[in-house]
Parts: sequence; structure tokens; C-alpha cells
Amino acid sequence: MHRFRLLALLALLVLAVVVAAPVTPAQSTKVPTAVGTGGGAATVDVLATEAAVEALRGGANAVDAAVVAAAVLGVTEPFSCGIGGGGFMVVRTADGTVTTIDGRETAPQAMRPDSFWEGGAPLPFSEARFSGLSAGVPGTVETWAEALRRFGTMELGEALQPAIEVAREGFVVDQTFFDQTLANVDFFDDVPSTAEIYLDPDGTPRDVGTVLRNPDLARSYQRLALKGAKGFYRGALAAAMVRAVRNPPVAADANHVWRPGVMTMRDVKRYEAPEREPTRVGYRGLDVYGMGPPSSGGSTVGEALNILEGFSLSAADRARAFHLYLEASRFSFADRNAYLADSDYFDVPLAGLLSDGFAAERRALIDPTQAATSPVAPGDPYPYDTAGEASVTAVQSETTTHLTVADRWGNVVSYTFTIESTGGNGIVVPGWGFLLNNELTDFNFDSLTHPNRVEGGKRPRSSMSPTIVLDDGQPFLALGSPGGSTIITTVLQLLVDRLDLGATLPEAIAAPRATQRNTASTLAEAAFISSPVGQELASTYGHVLAPTGEIGAATGIEFLDGGRMLAAAEPERRGGGSAAVVDPD
Ligand code: GLY
Repeated sequence: MHRFRLLALLALLVLAVVVAAPVTPAQSTKVPTAVGTGGGAATVDVLATEAAVEALRGGANAVDAAVVAAAVLGVTEPFSCGIGGGGFMVVRTADGTVTTIDGRETAPQAMRPDSFWEGGAPLPFSEARFSGLSAGVPGTVETWAEALRRFGTMELGEALQPAIEVAREGFVVDQTFFDQTLANVDFFDDVPSTAEIYLDPDGTPRDVGTVLRNPDLARSYQRLALKGAKGFYRGALAAAMVRAVRNPPVAADANHVWRPGVMTMRDVKRYEAPEREPTRVGYRGLDVYGMGPPSSGGSTVGEALNILEGFSLSAADRARAFHLYLEASRFSFADRNAYLADSDYFDVPLAGLLSDGFAAERRALIDPTQAATSPVAPGDPYPYDTAGEASVTAVQSETTTHLTVADRWGNVVSYTFTIESTGGNGIVVPGWGFLLNNELTDFNFDSLTHPNRVEGGKRPRSSMSPTIVLDDGQPFLALGSPGGSTIITTVLQLLVDRLDLGATLPEAIAAPRATQRNTASTLAEAAFISSPVGQELASTYGHVLAPTGEIGAATGIEFLDGGRMLAAAEPERRGGGSAAVVDPD
């Protein structure tokens, strides 16, 4: 063969091998804590944390970096969050202001209190969840766009670039991802657009260690990069989403019924992510800011802290402190279950719930030596005439994700977002690579009269509790957690452990957890039940502790002296998270 042709053939062969060989994304080392200066981030995923810190290093502020991280999480944590869902962002800006963005999903206008009812009874949770009906109009893209417009320095397109790269090049499937897929296989395999991305051709989850790419999601992000948020709420992507909701794209041999939803293009186009006042309570001389309605996070954490402030808690008697934490949570949850809903639809007595007077009334009901028997009745923050409905509680599963980012200028972001259940409603929008939420099951869809009943245009009550604590106006702590309604108790437990009981932030995040939400027994992790505190709570205080799986995979940042900060992520739960700072000590 002619020498030149031989060389050309060899070059072609080399090219062919390079193209065919799977490009394995670089595997990063993840650590759950990092201390240093220049800004920091903590998320459940190392690629997201690294992308945020890289952005900070390049001059981005905390809001930019939070959007960068969130977009990456939309790729690598698609069963917990993403552009098919919604969330709440609490922002402390460098000028000292604290504000929030409400990116909660919204019910289509045609939804009614009985939309999840058939034959005079509400659907079972799973049937309500895996349907077009459960999807609210997603708020995540508008949240990112609004955050960047108001507080960022980056364009949305720039903030999405790291995520586009991860979606194209892929990420390595780990055991947590495998397990989350496995739990959904029976439904994912009904929906070809979902199965194509998340299942192998034999219908099993993608194997641990393999690389998962999502070019369709890269395409969605690319569209947003070009068109901004309108690229999501109008045009081809919105049309595909509405089609998937109204006519779930299920296979002919699907072994479940997938009920159609009622979302329209008009519902999607009308979506807004309003800026709202944060909740604020004073606690031990600090200011604790959280998310108001439609989240119940800020009000319930705030009420419980107000109750606890009347007790002195000390590490010297950890069991007593935990007894009081569980009781404060029990009574606050009774009120949350009765009075929290979308305040555009129901007159939420927020000021009453967060008042010291109401807290004193509730505190007086707590026996410092003995657990109460649940359900306890809600209190009366104002004359309330449908109190009979108060014990109904929507089912919330234990998913969602939280990220915390801070920069060198004093901007801080505490952002919790979700698609509700792990895997959302199970429907990937065909051609666009993202799962839809099932957030409308966060309504009390089993009640036709509860304040949190289903209504068109309304936002379902949430438990997400992104929190920022200031000390004399300066950032002291920012944190949050996933976990459905256990988010509230996890955030409360973290605050009590850190602020009252002398735990460091990483210790508080790692500690075994218990959650009391006005239920007969207190759910607790096995390590909590077997701990000396757990045993004393049962034997001395009469708490009925019942085992449950992992509670929360929290992240947070604590602000230290001299511009230093400690970023901390969950070390074990959900496979462990990742924390990093720009300039480590
Ligand atoms: N879907 C979980 C929450 O909003 O609390």
C-alpha cells in the first residue's frame, strides 16, 4: 500500500477507536467538610460542588454559583430535583438583606379539590403519583432565571454550561443512584422515554460504575441557554411537557394505569416565581430566617424554636434536650398541619404562629418529664372555624436536595429543590430528558375542605426549610435538608444540636436523627434508637421510638472569624455529599 494511504488508514483507525471508546468522566474526590476562605459550597454531589466552587473561583457570586450547582444536580440527581420540579431559595445579599424566591410548582387552573378522587374516594398515593395529574407547572427554571436577574452576575446560559458538559459527557452511576432507580423500575419501564435514559435494555437499572449520559437534557439546557426561561415556558419544550402530562407517553404493554393530567400551555406560560418575605424568629440572640408559605418550613421551625427558647437546653442533659425538641416539634406540627397552605388561597395566621405569645401557650402544654400522646390538637393562633380537618396530613416522601453556597462578599444562598417523590411522577418528557414532578400530591388531596386542598392555580404546601442564621446582621450559619416533612425536624435538630448542645456543624449533620411530627410514635434511625439518648427517651420520658431508614442528607455552611467558612455535607447518608471552599486552609 502507498505509504501516504497507509498513514491515512492508521489515522482513521485511531480516530475510530477514540470515538468508540466511552469517555469516562474524571472521578473527583469528595470530602464532607472543607474549611477556608474565598467562598464555599456544600451539596449532595461532588460534581455540583466542584462546579460551584470553580465558578466562585472565577469571580461568580454565591447566587451564580448556586444556579451552576443546581443545574448540575439536575443532571446527576435527577430523581431528587431538576427542571421538571420546583423549590425555594433563601438569599442573604452582601448588603445584609434576606429575601426568598418561591419557585414552588403550581396546580393547573383546571385542578379541583376532587381531581384525585374516583368513585367517591381519593386515589391511593401511588396511583395519584404515577400520573399526569400529579405534575404541577415546574418552577425551577424561573427560580434560576429570577435569582440571576435579581442577584447574579451571570447569564443563565453561562451558568448552565458546566451542567451541559456533565449531561453530555456523563457521570458515573453509584450505588445510591442504582438503588433509587431500582425502587422505580416497575413504573419507569412503563414509560419508554424514562426507560431509555435510566434503564438498561434488559429493563434493569444502569449498573454501578457505568457512565450515564443525558443528551436530551443537554439539549433542554442548551435551549434555555439560548432563549432564557422563555425557552422552558413557551414553545416546543413546553408543548412536549403539556403533551406528556395530558397524555402520559406510556408503552402499550404498561402494567399500570397512568391517568392524564389537565395542564395547558396557558398554565405553563403564566408561571411566576415571586420574591417573598422570609420568616424570621429570634433565637438565643440570633436571627433565624426561613421560607414562608406555601412552605411550612419557616413557620414550623420558627414556632418550635420560639417554644424551645423558653427552656434552657444543655449538652449536660442531652436526653432532656431531645425530649423538649421532640415535644416542641410535636406541638408545632399540629399547628402546621392545621394552618399551613398557600397564603394566596388561605389566610395563614403566620404572625400568630410565629408570635412569642402563641409559643408560650404551646410551651405550657409540654410536660418536661413525659412525652405527650399524639395526635395533639392544634392551638388557636386566631379564631379558626374548620379545625375539625386539622389532623389530615399529606403524604410526603423522603427525597429532595439541598445546597448551600456562600461567596467572599457576604452573599449566601440556602436552596432546597425537588421533584417530590424520588423519581417524581416517573415521566421523562420525551426528547427533553427531564422527569416531571409529582408535587401536587403534597396537597391534602384526600380532603375536599382542608386549607391545603387541591385548587387550580394554587401551590401545594411544602416542608422545605432552607435556613439562614444571622448574628448581629452577619452570616453565622446556612443550612437545609431533603426529606419530605422530616426536613423540618432535621433542620430543627441541626439548629438545636449546633446552637444549644455544642455540636460542631459536621457533628450535627452526621448525628443520628429522630423525627416527631404529631404522630403516635417518633420515627428514628436505628443508631438513634440504640444510643444512650434514644434509650433514655424511651425508658424515662415515655417516647415510643419506631425505626425508619435514613432521615435527611443535610448540607450547610458556618461562617467563622476572619472571612473563613466551614462547608459541611452529609458524610454517609445517600452515599455522602461533598463540601469545598475556594482557598482551603
Ligand atoms: N415535596 C417535598 C416538600 O415540598 O416538602
